[in-house]
Amino acid sequence: MKTIVLKVDPISPEPKVISRAARLIMEGETVAFPTETVYGLGADATNDGAVKKIFEAKGRPPDNPLIVHISSIDDLNRVACNPSPRVVEFVSYYWPGPLTVIFRKSEAVSYLATAGLDTVAVRMPAHPVALALIRASGKPIAAPSANLSGRPSPTSAEHVLEDLDGKVPMVLDGGETHFGVESTVIDISGDRPVLLRPGPIPSAELTPLIGEFGEPASFLKEKPVAPGMKYTHYAPRAPLTLVMGKPNGIVDKIVHLAGNPNRGGIGVLCTDETFSRYPDTFVRVSLGSRFAPYGMLRNLYKCLRLFDKLGVSEIYAEGVDEVGINITLMNRLRKAARKVVDS
Ligand code: TXA
Ligand code: MG
Repeated sequence: MKTIVLKVDPISPEPKVISRAARLIMEGETVAFPTETVYGLGADATNDGAVKKIFEAKGRPPDNPLIVHISSIDDLNRVACNPSPRVVEFVSYYWPGPLTVIFRKSEAVSYLATAGLDTVAVRMPAHPVALALIRASGKPIAAPSANLSGRPSPTSAEHVLEDLDGKVPMVLDGGETHFGVESTVIDISGDRPVLLRPGPIPSAELTPLIGEFGEPASFLKEKPVAPGMKYTHYAPRAPLTLVMGKPNGIVDKIVHLAGNPNRGGIGVLCTDETFSRYPDTFVRVSLGSRFAPYGMLRNLYKCLRLFDKLGVSEIYAEGVDEVGINITLMNRLRKAARKVVDS
């Protein structure tokens, strides 16, 4: 299949471009598009055949459910069954935005999209291109991140093409995404809210509104709560070792673990503050400044993919203290890591 790449204005998407993409969605095809988190691979969430194409293109295990994207609060009633007024009030506060919430699924949503579950994950993205595409197609759009299963999520159209060129009919290229990691996923249907996946909204920002997060309810524990979280994720090709501790200790540990710095192929995912402390024989890639955690988050997947292009044979990554938004960075780094060691 030939993949058509269309440039689209991320602020005022051209109606012509959007209507071409929307037509594909209406015809039961897939389209990759930017959101404010990462690029998604979308299809009509109410069409089994269309949803199946997402799983095929990504090589995604069929027991890992998708997020359904809507463009207005009214759409919620199409995809969720009797959402409670309390939950609607809460999501209205965050939507459009990088927050995904679990609801009881409506009949309209394909069981393939929810992987057979009676619940559905719903999000209203903030990106103008995503919103325009959902509106123009008139469909709720099921969309996981637009990467091959197990690979880092794409934060640009180039990343989507690295993984899915020839496997999807269209990619809308709206430039780099803003947050660079996937949405925060929560379940607030029970007595205590459950954080299924940390994301761009720190949990400390949510708890004043919904209460402290509890442990996953016991009936859910038998199954993984966010089925996707059990799979290897976000991984670059070379094995990654995550080193925890304080910056100075981390640098010493990484230099020690790497051994002879002249042997080549040693990648280090460092920070602006530590970059110059590594031998220049290392392939050094900085995530950004430790003082700008959102910037580090935004660069993470791009940096992991860069190591693939630079062809390193091993990667060492610096850990950061797990507080605030760095909880999200560390969640993704831990999932990308083959090994976690202390310095
Ligand atoms: O930012 C994002 O969320 C991006 C953009 C495209 O919106 N999408 C994304 O989708 O990251 P995906 O498929 O890569 O991750 C969806 C996560 C998975 O961990 C999945 O298991 C979980 O949401 N999930 C989906 N439906 C669920 C459900 N009914 N109950 C619990 N977890 C669910
Ligand atoms: Mg994903």
